[in-house]
Amino acid sequence: MKTPNITQERLRDVIFKTPPAFHYWKDKPQTGGFSPPFFNFIEGVLRTELDHNQIENRRCLEIGAGLSTLFFLSMDYQVTSFSLPDVIDRIQLFLEADDFAVYESLWSPHAGRSEFLLGKHAVDNPDTYACCLIDGSHSVHSVFTDFTYCHEALGVGGVLFVDDTHFPGPSLLAQLLDQLDSYVDCGRHQKLRAFKKVNKRKSFDNMLGFVFSYPEA
Ligand SMILES: C[S@@+](CC[C@H](N)C(=O)[O-])C[C@H]1O[C@@H](n2cnc3c(N)ncnc32)[C@H](O)[C@@H]1O
Repeated sequence: MKTPNITQERLRDVIFKTPPAFHYWKDKPQTGGFSPPFFNFIEGVLRTELDHNQIENRRCLEIGAGLSTLFFLSMDYQVTSFSLPDVIDRIQLFLEADDFAVYESLWSPHAGRSEFLLGKHAVDNPDTYACCLIDGSHSVHSVFTDFTYCHEALGVGGVLFVDDTHFPGPSLLAQLLDQLDSYVDCGRHQKLRAFKKVNKRKSFDNMLGFVFSYPEA
């Protein structure tokens, strides 16, 4: 990573010391599931695993915006986010504050359900991203739909992160990725797993032999 400028350092300070609550569940504002060790893990994986041609690419596609959005921005990535409108609005308001308005030009938000919006984006932007984060709805159908389109949009040599693999949807996707020969496991931190895309294949002769176990919810 380049030497961070003052604004990046201030944004890092916010993320690590006073994280804003972009989410709302269990009747109160929430900062989300990522604490500093998760971000250290993401940064480490990107530093060590990205192919040479992806290192300078600096484009991230994330399903499920939040603190992760700020983190990728603080790494100087161009970030494309798909998330529900309330979270997009709160991040927008946060960035509009004078201190961080500079990041608005790096951020492309899409407000709505990824199952409906992501397909067109993936078709229009094949092989575009250095990394993708799947961290939106955790239902099985949403996670697998997100993966179908992320596979189109992620470049070979890029990294796919799947969060909350203790839930059934993300767990089943991680099990699929463990068995597809177009991805290799490149680490995990607790519930967050990382896979590197090594080729563009979409179908697999041996798929009928894949084994899945339904995770305990
Ligand atoms: C677990 S939080 C995301 C955490 C985020 N990565 C962070 O660091 O805070 C889940 C996010 O998914 C979004 N979401 C839920 N269902 C979605 C869907 N069907 N399509 C797109 N985003 C969805 C919510 O808006 C919320 O921002």
